[in-house]
Amino acid sequence: MKVLVIGSGGREHALCWKLYHSDSVSEVVCAPGNAGIKAVARCVDIGAEDVPALCALAAEEKPGLVVVGPEVPLVNGLADLLRQQGLDVFGPSAAAAELEGSKAFSKELMDEAGVPTAKFEVHTDVVKAEALIAQWGAPIVVKASGLAAGKGVIVADDEATAVEAVRDMLAGNSFGEAGHEVVIEEFLAGEEASCLFIVSGDTILPLASSQDHKALLDADLGPNTGGMGAYSPAPCVTDAVAEEVLETVARPIIAALKKREIPFIGTLYAGMMLTEKGLRTLEFNVRFGDPECQPLMMRLRSDLGDVLLAAAQGELDTVSLEWDTRAALCVVIASEGYPNSYEKNQPIRALDKLENDRVMVFHAGTTMLNGDLVNVGGRVLGVTALGDSVVEAQQAAYENLDQLDWQGAYYRKDIGYRAI
Ligand code: AMP
Ligand code: GLY
Repeated sequence: MKVLVIGSGGREHALCWKLYHSDSVSEVVCAPGNAGIKAVARCVDIGAEDVPALCALAAEEKPGLVVVGPEVPLVNGLADLLRQQGLDVFGPSAAAAELEGSKAFSKELMDEAGVPTAKFEVHTDVVKAEALIAQWGAPIVVKASGLAAGKGVIVADDEATAVEAVRDMLAGNSFGEAGHEVVIEEFLAGEEASCLFIVSGDTILPLASSQDHKALLDADLGPNTGGMGAYSPAPCVTDAVAEEVLETVARPIIAALKKREIPFIGTLYAGMMLTEKGLRTLEFNVRFGDPECQPLMMRLRSDLGDVLLAAAQGELDTVSLEWDTRAALCVVIASEGYPNSYEKNQPIRALDKLENDRVMVFHAGTTMLNGDLVNVGGRVLGVTALGDSVVEAQQAAYENLDQLDWQGAYYRKDIGYRAI
């Protein structure tokens, strides 16, 4: 089968790599891909958000399966349009993708379904929002309701910061349209874990547990990013926790969507906070996590093409997932300056020195320029290693990193510390 993958990040490199090594898959095509993906897929230069051009590409390529990586095209209805063309698609409809596309919708559906989550209110009026902040006090969390590339959440330690965030968002100064509605939420303390599920109709298959590091700096300090590293398994997700997330979070939210006649086919990502009072759901995403996908794909033993096609065709109940018992850990190498501005087109050399039989380098923001591999994005590489434990995977990932020949590289030195 030919598989078309949409996207250009480390997540999509990991998916393309795993599909390339799947017996069920004869060819991988990726739009737009990146310099690393070129090794395992034929890349077509169409952006992941150019929905009409992607539909035309799919009509021409006639793939046996389309896998949509990022959230933006899903929220914009790419999966619906491709299904109307008669294609098998792994990725939810626009209606189902609202779970990620609108935090207001997501929180209201969690309430309706009885899914445990932080106390919240949705606001579009500055005066009312400020009154709530004064009433609840700090710490308090302000979220842009719409898509903001993982950056639309302000965890405010004092009321002034929360008020400023609300004003900026509602005035359209930060996050544009995505900030015109805000969710104000009770602050939760605890350890975070990413619980992902492959979903098709009533069948919900948990993936191995994982955790990511969203903060830019060591010790989880500094601003939030798309994710600076991740590992699997996450020791805090015991079998009992995994079972509880499946039964009290994943099943009820999928059932609540179904009640609204919104079926879900794709990845459900539940961002969980393990608090002293029990599990709380921070957010839902409707796609694989990036970088969580990279360690997960290193550990997955099953044929990914078979699994995703079964989900797309409504036959997921015939599938079970097998995992490498080893741990995997991914260190993200970003451009110095990310998540703010950074210099592009810097040559990156000696990448081959980082890879060996246990270590894969997944590319994100890379391209070829005049024969050199160069950075074009904020998150650039994901050095991902297997090891008998998270400690050993961490050692393997960091072992050769000093050999990387790229002046503008920035990475955290402590990915995985919570698991160690
Ligand atoms: P989200 O995009 O909703 O997952 O939020 C991004 C990050 O903000 C999460 O991974 C948490 O670290 C933090 N966060 C979100 N909601 C809360 C909350 N209610 N309490 C504390 N931290 C939160
Ligand atoms: N790593 C967080 C996310 O993919 O949303």
